Amino acid sequence: MRRIHHVGIVVNRLAEAYGFYRDTLGLPLLREASLPAQGVRAALLAAGESEIELLEPLAPASGVGRFLARRGEGLHHLCFDTADVDAALGDLGRRGVELIDTAPRAGLAGRVAFLHPRACAGVLVELATPEDGDAGRAAPLQLKRLVIGARAPRETVGVFQSLFGLPEVTINGGPRTMLGIGQNALLVVPASEVGGTEGMVALSLVAENFATLTDACDRAGVKHLRGTGEITIEPVSSHGVHLHISRYRFP
Ligand code: CO
Repeated sequence: MRRIHHVGIVVNRLAEAYGFYRDTLGLPLLREASLPAQGVRAALLAAGESEIELLEPLAPASGVGRFLARRGEGLHHLCFDTADVDAALGDLGRRGVELIDTAPRAGLAGRVAFLHPRACAGVLVELATPEDGDAGRAAPLQLKRLVIGARAPRETVGVFQSLFGLPEVTINGGPRTMLGIGQNALLVVPASEVGGTEGMVALSLVAENFATLTDACDRAGVKHLRGTGEITIEPVSSHGVHLHISRYRFP
């Protein structure tokens, strides 16, 4: 797995979600299309090495429509960029990993396939082999890390290491573990630290220009808590996503 290709967020309406993600945060819209096979209208926005995918259900009975009815807006799936999705899927299938797609299909990110969340500690994982020349559009915010809540953190870390070969980048002896992927990371934390939530719980981004970002949030009336080097957007303003945006890439 070369990088986090994107993180998928389910929203009620793309047009409303653009108001925050494109207009307030300033993430460039790369493309938007209906994908009837997946029951969604989807959009990809640039966020550094990775992208953010917004998903609006085409019908309430679709998978994403049912997710929206049950859970509300919020984080939905994680997509890894892989050079050869056919080979990766074949390898996972031979290892007995539970798959949603046994063969790749056309998606917004290229040729894509989904693994079953049961195979990945409650996280819905998509694999994608993008079209050539697709990466690297400049954006004022870059995806930094995705936080995953786990009831058994060491087991979850083991699953991600074994399925996707992600190296552990920080070993601090504590209950939190960081797994590197491209320039980004997955941070696995005990579910008890994040209100008992298992699976994807929060997203961290880095702002190129922090003052511009905080001004834009103020102008748009975005609800957020502000520290000296970080703001936390309240999910009511970010379509259900716990979003941390920091001034610095490290720590
Ligand atoms: Co996706």
